[in-house]
Amino acid sequence: MSQKSYNIAVIGGDGTGPEVVREAIKVLDAAAPKFNLKLNYTYYDIGGERYLKTGEVLPDSVLAELRKFPAILLGAIGHPGVKPGILEKGILLRTRFELEQYINLRPVKLYDERYCPLKDKKPEDIDFVVVRENNEGLYTGAGGFVFKGTPNEIAVQESINTRRGVERCLRFAFDFAQKRRGGKPWRGLKPEEVKEGKTAQLTLCGKTNVLTYAFDLWERAFHEVGQEYPKIKRDYTHVDATTMWFVKNPEWFDVIVTDNMFGDIITDLGAMIQGGMGIAAGGNINPQGTSMFEPIGGSAPKYTGMNVINPLAAICAGQMMLDFLGETEAAAAIEAAVIKVVREKLKSLAAGRMGYSTTEVGDLVASFV
Ligand code: IPM
Ligand code: MN
Repeated sequence: MSQKSYNIAVIGGDGTGPEVVREAIKVLDAAAPKFNLKLNYTYYDIGGERYLKTGEVLPDSVLAELRKFPAILLGAIGHPGVKPGILEKGILLRTRFELEQYINLRPVKLYDERYCPLKDKKPEDIDFVVVRENNEGLYTGAGGFVFKGTPNEIAVQESINTRRGVERCLRFAFDFAQKRRGGKPWRGLKPEEVKEGKTAQLTLCGKTNVLTYAFDLWERAFHEVGQEYPKIKRDYTHVDATTMWFVKNPEWFDVIVTDNMFGDIITDLGAMIQGGMGIAAGGNINPQGTSMFEPIGGSAPKYTGMNVINPLAAICAGQMMLDFLGETEAAAAIEAAVIKVVREKLKSLAAGRMGYSTTEVGDLVASFV
C-alpha cells in the first residue's frame, strides 16, 4: 500500500499550548509509521507573544497560508499580558469564521469512572457528542452601543441565525449521528424504536420557549431536514434542562446539536463530566476545507513551562484530526493508547497530580500506540 502524506499546520500558541502540542506530535509520529502515514508539519508562531512583540494578531498572509492545509493542530490561545478578547477574537474566532469552520465537534466520553465527578456514572453512561454551530449565533459580533458611557447607554448583541447556516449544521449533525456507530443501534433506543429501524438519536438543544425567533427557525429546520434521516430519532431539550440532564442522566444523550453560545456553555460542563479539561478535545470543522483541532481548555498560564500540564486533550485533538483525515485505524490506535494510560497509569487527570510529567504522559501514550 502506498504511503499517505498529510501537511499539517501547527500553532502551539500561548502558555502551555506548545508543551501539549509537542506531546500530541510525539504520539502522532509514533502512530504514523505503523499506519504507513507521513505527517509533514509547518509551524506558525501566532499568539500573545507575537502580538506583544510586533502588534500582529493573525496576519492575512498567515491566514492565506493556513487555507492550504487540510488540518491545523492548535495548542491554546490566551495571554495574561493581553487584554481579554483581542487574541480570542483575532485568532481563534477569526480562523473559525474565515475558514468557514462551521462545526465545532466536541465528544464527551468518560474513559474511567475514577475521573467522573458524578456519583455512580460509568464510561457506558457518558458517551455523547455535541455538534456546536461555530459560525453564527451570538458570536458574529453583530450589534453595538448607543450612547456609550452615558447613563442612557444601550448595548445590543444580536444572535444571527441564517437558514443556510443552521441547515448545514443540522445536516452535518444528522450525517454524523448516522455514521457514528457504523449503523449499530445506540444503546439508549427502546426496542420498538430499534424495530422501526432507528439507529441513533439527535437531540436539538435550544430555548424554544423564550428565543421564539431563533429557535423557531432551528426547530423547523431540524424537523424538515430530519425527514431525510428516517433512521435518526429526533429529540429536543431546552438548554437549561440540558445542563440538568448532563449531571443527572448523561446516558440519555447520543448526539446533540445546538447553537454557538449554548454549545460553548454546555461543552464546558461536558468536559467536566468526562474528567476535566485535561482530556477534552474538539474539532473546528469545515468538511470541504481546512479544519482545526484543539484541546478545549485554555493556555493555563500558571502551569506554563512546568511540565505538569495534562497533554491528553491535545493528544485526543490529534486523534480527532487523524480520524477526520480518514485515518480511522490510526485514530483508533491512539484512542486505545490514551484509554490504557488513563485506566492503568494516571492517578488523576489534573495538572500536577497525574503521577507523571507532561512529557512522560506523552511517552506513555506513544509507547502504547
Ligand atoms: C471555546 C472558547 C472560545 C469560545 C473563546 C476562547 C473565544 O471558550 O473554544 O469554547 O467561546 O468559543
Ligand atoms: Mn468555551
